[in-house]
Amino acid sequence: MARRKPPLPRLLLDNVSCMRNAQQILRNVNASIHDGAGLVLSGTNGSGKSTLLRMLAGFNRPTAGQVLWNGHDITDSGVFHQYKLQLNWLSLKDAIKDKFTVLDNVLWYELLEGKQGNSMAAIELMGLGKLAKEKSRMLSMGQRKRLQLARLLAIDRPIWLLDEPSVALDVEGTKLLEYIIHEHRKKGGIVIVATHLPIAMEDAMVLRLPPRFPRLMTFVDMLDRGGPD
Ligand SMILES: Nc1ncnc2c1ncn2[C@@H]1O[C@H](COP(=O)(O)OP(=O)(O)OP(=O)(O)O)[C@@H](O)[C@H]1O
Ligand SMILES: [Mg+2]
Repeated sequence: MARRKPPLPRLLLDNVSCMRNAQQILRNVNASIHDGAGLVLSGTNGSGKSTLLRMLAGFNRPTAGQVLWNGHDITDSGVFHQYKLQLNWLSLKDAIKDKFTVLDNVLWYELLEGKQGNSMAAIELMGLGKLAKEKSRMLSMGQRKRLQLARLLAIDRPIWLLDEPSVALDVEGTKLLEYIIHEHRKKGGIVIVATHLPIAMEDAMVLRLPPRFPRLMTFVDMLDRGGPD
């Protein structure tokens, strides 16, 4: 009897390397990520966690190796067009419009997505219900992070790329983050998180990136600085 092939991973990092500003940041990174998986990126400041997330989001291209989605290279423009619709991106740049209310800051993401009806429930789940009609400039740091998380829920895309999602959250906020990650994975969603702070994620894979050290000065640096020191 012919053996069944194991299913393709939803995302495959196949020997991925990345250079930025003539410096090697990522070297031969490999990971197989199936539906429902959690991946934690850890490592010291500057080790390349955000760079890897940016690569998964299509902002940076690998200099070697491939990121495959359903077996297809995400740098292929036809593939990327479909792939980017799977992604939910959260980073320290929160893209919150201060003049909009909390509700509108979530709602316009949902409307752009062609969806409706999720925003208020998401805001309430993240504990911002009473602030929904307030201007967003009133929000504290942690409340702004909760608003970003409410957007993830309102848009509801399968692959979450989260860069330091618990920074500024209080204990209850971190528990909520853990809860929504758990629920998302239970539905088959994928969650990839770069973090220094502990975030409880059952059976998550951990990818520890090695530290990067300052490199020799490049020709471009010399031009910037007007010559070697
Ligand atoms: N826009 C950029 N152009 C060139 N190099 C960059 C750029 N942004 C970051 N780098 C470099 O890439 C390396 C990895 O940075 P990255 O932000 O991915 O690290 P990180 O692991 O996310 O660090 P942190 O824990 O501080 O968030 C660092 O050496 C950094 O100086
Ligand atoms: Mg980072």
